[in-house]
Amino acid sequence: MKDKLKQAAMEAAKKAYVPYSNYKVGAALLTKSGKIFTGCNVENSSYGLTNCAERTAVFKAVSEGETDFEEIMIYVDSEKLPTPCGACRQVLAEFSSDLKITIISKNEEIHTDIGKLLPLSFKLEKK
Ligand code: THU
Repeated sequence: MKDKLKQAAMEAAKKAYVPYSNYKVGAALLTKSGKIFTGCNVENSSYGLTNCAERTAVFKAVSEGETDFEEIMIYVDSEKLPTPCGACRQVLAEFSSDLKITIISKNEEIHTDIGKLLPLSFKLEKK
């Protein structure tokens, strides 16, 4: 499954729309039911509207009815490690408090989880 997830993240990175940064990120999100949803970063001329690869993957999964996630793998073909930004950490924390996170660059691979990357994430009670 690790190889499959990495392959999916690598394929997703190829689709990144990154005319401003040229930093292609791919994410592969594994659901607890065993499905994989991928995402890439999508930039915009109005820079702040850029959507990171992680959030693209999460929003694709949720819009297909999946909200239970096991792991996300984030990949770049660069030496700069794609550690998820603050916005992505909060979005990831919304759905799985024990989400495993693997972050892969050209020369490094880090294994962590959402609890370590975003302790005390903001959570509202669900109505
Ligand atoms: N980016 C991601 O997609 N994920 C990360 O984990 C780090 C940053 C994107 C946003 C933007 O398109 C580019 O990388 C440079 O910030």
